[in-house]
Amino acid sequence: MWLPCRCTTKYVAASIRRGVSASSLHALRRGRSSWNSAAFMPESAGFEGVSGRDALHDYSVSHSENFWAAVARQRLNWIRPFEAVQDCDLSQGRIKWFEGGKLNVSVNCLDRHVHTCPERVALIWERDERGSEVRYTYRELLEITCRLGNLLRRHGVKKGDCVTIYMPTCPLAVASMLACARIGAAHNVVFAGFSSEALAERIRDAQSSTVITVNQGVRGGKITELKRTVDAAVQSCPTVRQVFVAMRTEKRVEVTDRDFALEEEMLKEDVVCEPAAMDSEDVLFLLYTSGSTGKPKGLVHTQAGYLLYAALTHRYVFGYHDGDVFGCVADIGWITGHSYTVYGPLANGGTTVLFESTPVYPDPGRYWDMVERLRINQFYGAPTAIRLLIRYGDQWVKKYDRSSLTTLGSVGEPINTEAWEWYNRVVGEGRCPVVDTWWQTETGGICIAPKPSEPDAEIVPGMAMRPFFGIKPALMDTEGKLLTSNNESGALCMAQPWPGMARTIHNNHQRFLETYFQPYPGYFFTGDGAYRSQEGYYQITGRLDDVINVSGHRIGTAEIEDVVVIRSDEAHLSDFILIISVTQFAKRLPKTRSGKIMRRVLRKVVDCDLDSLGDLSTLDDPAAVQEIIEGHEKLLSK
Ligand code: WTA
Repeated sequence: MWLPCRCTTKYVAASIRRGVSASSLHALRRGRSSWNSAAFMPESAGFEGVSGRDALHDYSVSHSENFWAAVARQRLNWIRPFEAVQDCDLSQGRIKWFEGGKLNVSVNCLDRHVHTCPERVALIWERDERGSEVRYTYRELLEITCRLGNLLRRHGVKKGDCVTIYMPTCPLAVASMLACARIGAAHNVVFAGFSSEALAERIRDAQSSTVITVNQGVRGGKITELKRTVDAAVQSCPTVRQVFVAMRTEKRVEVTDRDFALEEEMLKEDVVCEPAAMDSEDVLFLLYTSGSTGKPKGLVHTQAGYLLYAALTHRYVFGYHDGDVFGCVADIGWITGHSYTVYGPLANGGTTVLFESTPVYPDPGRYWDMVERLRINQFYGAPTAIRLLIRYGDQWVKKYDRSSLTTLGSVGEPINTEAWEWYNRVVGEGRCPVVDTWWQTETGGICIAPKPSEPDAEIVPGMAMRPFFGIKPALMDTEGKLLTSNNESGALCMAQPWPGMARTIHNNHQRFLETYFQPYPGYFFTGDGAYRSQEGYYQITGRLDDVINVSGHRIGTAEIEDVVVIRSDEAHLSDFILIISVTQFAKRLPKTRSGKIMRRVLRKVVDCDLDSLGDLSTLDDPAAVQEIIEGHEKLLSK
């Protein structure tokens, strides 16, 4: 059951913040755990004999059904209770959770909080223009979601349809996602930096008849013509019947017969919209991500399991409590934006920041100015941005008051030790735990992270460390055999299903099975490599498709990049130089807009196979590829 604000959760939060109590100190002295599981996690009160973080984790994997049933009953509002906790078989790639249950995701994210605390702030829209933030209460967000839901319904959008959302991170984008959830349609958010070709490919694959966009985007002081990009994309998308256009700027844009002015149409709608009763396993959204072949995969997430997992991880990995302000700076076009800007925080009745700008606009103090102004408690960002900001110097951070911060998160790629330490020491003043969170679009939410852990448990820089509740990692050797000891590296798999995992690839279940379930039968294969330390902690070593094997040592690209790219001036280089016979220097590497190096392209250039570079639409700046090609040609001609 959801606890109303300002009552029990607040009490639990307060008791945890007070730190180690007298009785837990006593327990510590006797060598027992300092953790009262039920106080930390009220859902675990009925788990017999469970005391301490490790015991709770053991219980969550050994009594997985009990664990997830208790959490699902208490954390979500159900229209009809579920009959079966799970029906999963990883060897078949079958994943079903909470069947028989009915619920509505938008009710879980909005209505139930409106009943208890309607005036609580749900969204703080940190607009590109510094200092012009706008707040939306839960009541207001429910109202605009309902208007939008009614509008979509009136325009024929129904259960089973998929609406493509091509918008920057803004309240109407969040309301569009929730409006789809309210009426039972799926959404397909496409990152608003993608080209018209990339957008068209995703609209066609999702077979959308409806697109929601804005006239223009504003980011880093620059205007982007998003409506124009949609116009170009729909030329090759015969399924599109209607495009709703919101106004981010004053600029009027060209309209066609299929266009509708979103805000004007919304005004005609009622503020009450009957929520659809959805089955747990109905589709909530598709989200496209690049695969190794270059054709994007539309990963499918469903209603109950996804929402539950996003909410639980948000609450416990970041230590989010009622009244906190959560600042995830990821764009809603990525899974991080879905799970930790929108669904996790809203399911928990939280206040979430929608960041529209860039880390260096108008200057490199932007993040920390925002932290001071909005009193952000948890800040969640990417190592690429951290590394960029290090170069501008500490003064940009120290200028601002960061005393509100309690937890710092990192996601998307390995965080090298130097960046981790700067984040911890300079940004967090050594007070805030840094959580290096490992997960993927496929996993729906965080799977490995240093927290939750006991208050005094160690956090090792640059390590994701501890599997979350219900997560059972496994490492495999090159022959596909399970590695059972510590101090070993292998292919990172998951030995048990969990509610947040993707259910299929839209229109291509076969590819889903081949990619994730056939490489190691009975396991979910992540595609990443990992090292399990002597203490049993996990460290991600990078994508396995890029692993280099030297005299029996598996060396991941992450380790090499950490040394070669980041610390080329340090002595560590000698450890790795044995594997590098020819070096091509480049000013920059081809990176996606989310900061990942497109290694597939580098490999093709090295192989002189320029005809099969594949899909380059997700690149931040395609000119980087041209530079690498030219550099390589020069190298060869030497
Ligand atoms: C990488 C992002 C190391 C990894 C949430 C994974 C990481 C891919 C980390 C998924 C981390 C993500 N340490 N590597 N903490 N987090 N990755 O789907 O290779 O955009 O498979 O999801 O990013 O990227 P995706």
